[in-house]
Amino acid sequence: MKIKKVVVIGSGTMGCGIAAQLCNANISVTLLDLTTEITEKAKERIYKSRPPLLIDKSKIENISIGNINDNFNLVSQADWIVEAVVERIDIKHNIYEKIFKTRKNGSIVSSNTSSIPIKVLSENLSDEEKKDFCITHFFNPVRYMDLLEIVKSENNDLEKIKSLKEFCEKDLGKGTIICNDTPGFLGNRIGVFAMQVAMTEAFKMKLTIEEADAVFGRPMGIPKTGVFGLYDLIGIDLMADVLKSFIKELPENDQFQEVAKEIPLVKKLIETGYTGRKGKGGFYRMNKTDNKKILEGINLETGKYSISKKFNLGSEKMDIVNLINRKDKYGEYAWSVISKIIKYASSLVPEITDKFNDIDEAMRLGFNWTKGPFEMLKEIGVKNFFEKIESFENNKFLENLSKTKDENFYGERQLYTELETLGKIKPKAKKLDKNNSAEIYRFNDFNIVEFTTKANALDYDSMDSLKNATDKPLIIINEAMQFSAGVNLSYTMDFADKGDFKSIEKFVKYFQETCKHLKYSKFPVVSAPSGLALGGGFEVLCQSNFVVSHTNIVVGLVETIVGLIPAGGGCKEMLWRWSQTEEAKKDPDYAPLKVFDIIGYAKTATSPIEAEPLKYLKPEDKKIMSRNSLLSASKEIIENNNNFNPPEEANFKLSGKAVYEKMIKMLEKLYNDKIILDHGMQVGKELAYVLSGGDTTPEVKLTEDDVYKLELDAFMRLIETQKTQDRIKHTLATGKPLVN
Ligand code: NAI
Repeated sequence: MKIKKVVVIGSGTMGCGIAAQLCNANISVTLLDLTTEITEKAKERIYKSRPPLLIDKSKIENISIGNINDNFNLVSQADWIVEAVVERIDIKHNIYEKIFKTRKNGSIVSSNTSSIPIKVLSENLSDEEKKDFCITHFFNPVRYMDLLEIVKSENNDLEKIKSLKEFCEKDLGKGTIICNDTPGFLGNRIGVFAMQVAMTEAFKMKLTIEEADAVFGRPMGIPKTGVFGLYDLIGIDLMADVLKSFIKELPENDQFQEVAKEIPLVKKLIETGYTGRKGKGGFYRMNKTDNKKILEGINLETGKYSISKKFNLGSEKMDIVNLINRKDKYGEYAWSVISKIIKYASSLVPEITDKFNDIDEAMRLGFNWTKGPFEMLKEIGVKNFFEKIESFENNKFLENLSKTKDENFYGERQLYTELETLGKIKPKAKKLDKNNSAEIYRFNDFNIVEFTTKANALDYDSMDSLKNATDKPLIIINEAMQFSAGVNLSYTMDFADKGDFKSIEKFVKYFQETCKHLKYSKFPVVSAPSGLALGGGFEVLCQSNFVVSHTNIVVGLVETIVGLIPAGGGCKEMLWRWSQTEEAKKDPDYAPLKVFDIIGYAKTATSPIEAEPLKYLKPEDKKIMSRNSLLSASKEIIENNNNFNPPEEANFKLSGKAVYEKMIKMLEKLYNDKIILDHGMQVGKELAYVLSGGDTTPEVKLTEDDVYKLELDAFMRLIETQKTQDRIKHTLATGKPLVN
């Protein structure tokens, strides 16, 4: 079955997200809602969404719109009809009746319901109709959340489900897991339970919200929003509705019931409009006093707000074993939460799925956890776990494991997909080396470097791993949310605070040396980014020989924001790329001015399509919808480059002072218009000096090393200024830029 045309009914949050992702896959899609006005607005929302739901805004015309009264006949042309209307069974039943009267024979019909069982959804359908009906449960925002749960029934035509899965996996890029018809399926059943346990235990143990979020966060391999931050993000009222539905659907003796009970403080928050970020605030709120925004946190006992102080647990690295062994209330909290999640998840095997592995993967894909409950159990160690756990009655999985004590119970990862992913090959690969920032694996005849720091920020160790891994073809790839958010600024500031600028210089030099080494080593180097590839992360990527990019990337050189300039070859590489254009051949100042504009404004691209016109990516770089395919596409490049020759060294002819002065004129205008302030001017001048080639004339041939040197010197002059240091400190503390 080929899916070429899709109709999505319901153009709210999810309908828009699904339509946009189909548009991204170049599929023609029609959005229908009660009125055409609603779908018109929906299309506009898709176009303007931030972060953008569309990879390429110019493709918006893949989406056509209409209403369910005048345009329902379009359903007859669709290969797949997705229902994403409000969560009301009467409305859904009505729509199915219309769909099955109109659709063409054999087309697939699915619902995006998050809580209604397929049995109930399909109760009015004939057996023949049931064959083609399933649930496709996408997560919000659809472009960015990788999980898709397909719920099938015993009536389904399995071939059709298989081909739908394949389409969703390869064309829509979703991690597609088939699951049983049980409440909340896999992701929400465990994910929402985990949030409720983290919340109720925090109340019980009298933790502050900052403490709970610091524990139920990075150290557990969970996104930094933790539990209270995540509650605010999702919407406290929406979470209350989700809980009500679980209470209704699950049996009375299900452990979920205990943690889903209404909490008086939560009820009060909803009643007073504190529904989270979309409302007046939630557990956290922004309070504006004296024109200053101050983040406040709620006291779980009194309900009063006070200034929120970030709680420092001492380590932000993921380390479950150390965390649960701590002899303080945080260790106790972590163990209580983790053990309850492991017990609950394992008690549901095989009821919700016979593959426990799928539960872990659903938590990774749907909640961005680094590890699911069973991997946590594996990390804690079977023996340790059973020494620590008090009881696990009526839990066949744990009873069995307590007998076998099999530390290797886990087996392979990512059983849900047939694609050859990093997660699948890592256990089979040989770990060659590991330091604080990266790991090197050897698989077949190539190496893999996986960064392992927070947001994969880069430091000396990251560079060391890259350099050491070039004795074979190399793939730089990881499974974390970000490819790399750039150089680790705290690491740099630690040196600056001590006045140890020599060490910073040494690091930048090593960074340059490593990137040059990546570019010219005798084996091909492939970067396979997903998520952020900013600053230093982008410099690694753009000096790799090949790029296989996920469509969800954010790339750019953003150093000027923190008062620096790219010094790992970013200026140099961008100059080189722009100097290869026809325009540059006619005008020697074309490339420096273009790059000045791009780096000066710290321009970023939120997809490969946006990245190409900026030359952050090249036309020949591969762009891939399915994150799970990044590794195999990278591998294919290596296999096709057996006789790889490194590129010829680049050189530059720049006009020095002549173009420098043009750039200064631009800066002066910005300064006079008060768009930049004193330090902005200084950073701009340093960037102009590098991009104009420094003290040079057009006849002089500059080598890559010359430009690296210009980058390094300018970087060092800037990092030594108080105002750059102020910018860095401000950004580290608030995540926001400082204009000075
Ligand atoms: P929404 O409230 O944002 O949008 C629902 C849309 O359905 C509205 O545009 C409404 O006008 C339209 N609608 C209502 N009756 C209709 C009818 N008879 N014919 C055509 N359109 C009609 O809802 P949302 O959040 O997009 O949810 C849609 C479905 O997706 C629900 O089943 C929900 O449970 C599920 N879901 C929601 C998620 C979320 O995060 N919002 C996540 C996963 C699933």
